[in-house]
Amino acid sequence: MNARVDSHRIKHETRNQPRSLGARSTIFERRESAVRSYSRSFPVLFDRAEGTRIFDARGRSYLDFLAGCSTLNYGHNHPVLKEALLRYIRADGISCGLDLFTRAKSEFLEALEGQILRPRQLDYLVQFPGPTGTNAVEAALKLARKVTGRRNVIAFTNGFHGVTLGALACTGNRLQRLDGDLPLGNVTRIPYAGYLGDAFDGLGLLEKMLEDPSSGIDRPAAIILETVQGEGGLNAANADWLRRVEAIARSSGALLIVDDIQAGIGRTGQFFSFEFAGIRPDIVTLAKSLSGYGLPLAAVLIRRDLDRWAAGEHNGTFRGNSSAFVTATAALDHFWRDDAFAARAQELGKMLRLRLDSFVMQFPELRLKGRGMMQGIEMPSGEMASRVVELAFAEGLIIETSGPLGEVVKILAPLIIEPAELDEGLQVLFDAIRSASKEGLPS
Ligand SMILES: Cc1ncc(COP(=O)(O)O)c(C=O)c1O
Repeated sequence: MNARVDSHRIKHETRNQPRSLGARSTIFERRESAVRSYSRSFPVLFDRAEGTRIFDARGRSYLDFLAGCSTLNYGHNHPVLKEALLRYIRADGISCGLDLFTRAKSEFLEALEGQILRPRQLDYLVQFPGPTGTNAVEAALKLARKVTGRRNVIAFTNGFHGVTLGALACTGNRLQRLDGDLPLGNVTRIPYAGYLGDAFDGLGLLEKMLEDPSSGIDRPAAIILETVQGEGGLNAANADWLRRVEAIARSSGALLIVDDIQAGIGRTGQFFSFEFAGIRPDIVTLAKSLSGYGLPLAAVLIRRDLDRWAAGEHNGTFRGNSSAFVTATAALDHFWRDDAFAARAQELGKMLRLRLDSFVMQFPELRLKGRGMMQGIEMPSGEMASRVVELAFAEGLIIETSGPLGEVVKILAPLIIEPAELDEGLQVLFDAIRSASKEGLPS
């Protein structure tokens, strides 16, 4: 997501003048805050969407390799989810339920328990915070601090956890941190897996510092991490690294929070992105693709004995979104009753790896990043990645960048994509990279 990286400043300068959108665009220019970001990369008026495609007001079709930044893992307007939502609305289902007991919420919890938690022998309680990812992270951090009576949190370089102050304190991105102008304390940053190459062991440093009472690090309430850093440039931790973090959390009395907001819900080939490592986080945050329909819904999964909240101790109006419960339930029942969807996502991830591998091999300056259906290509510079996005868009492909300099072109195709469509989009992407390389932008 280029908006979340420093290089976006460069993009603002070079792309601040959107291409002509026709008369209807002027309302955005007149009335919308300059903080908008994606619309700078894709300056057309979008109108409707279906499956893997999104259409502009003139009817032009674009293949969507951004998928609401991993919010549309089941594609746009999936017919099963849409039907469930329409039925609910037609029947005058509760639309705002605060945190009342509603049929929509009970069916969602039943589906989560039946399709996800029980089969994985995970005994989490579910907290519904406000409906966005950052709300879930705030709640997770607050609970960890309450339960442990400690303030400090360990977070990792290039991590992204949201933009409200608690979550932002754990986020690395300088642009959103206003380069130090915000009160973002009580977080100790440690190098993420591979941050300094194989030679430097960031977890060894953390272990030593936590053991040494005079190292100057305050005992942590939590260690928060992404298994694949979506915004940070698709840095993927391996199973060993994740198990070591879990062990450090256990030995130091910190709670392990896995932020699965972008990497979860099938994106890496399993419902939770940490399953492959066999770890058991104390708290898991979910949002983005949880509703499956682009409707806001977030959840905090809490190890049963850690649910020490007093009633109303963390509240908010939009805790649980009834329409989103309905589509989320339909998605869990439709896609997660058996292993077929996950197996398909794994196959797609392997196919993607093969295609990227054989392309990247031809260009020594390119590097493959990520895991599963969350992979991409690191370009020599943010400018070049930005140019790739522009060229791809001209050919009908929507794709974005991430990484500290916006240098990683990130493929987040919907998981319902057909292999032929994946190939079609990759062809456009590869052509765009070839053209950008020929243009020889500064690296
Ligand atoms: C890993 C991760 N955590 C938290 C968030 C914040 O979610 P939201 O934008 O819904 O607040 C994001 C968003 O990109 C994310 O990728």
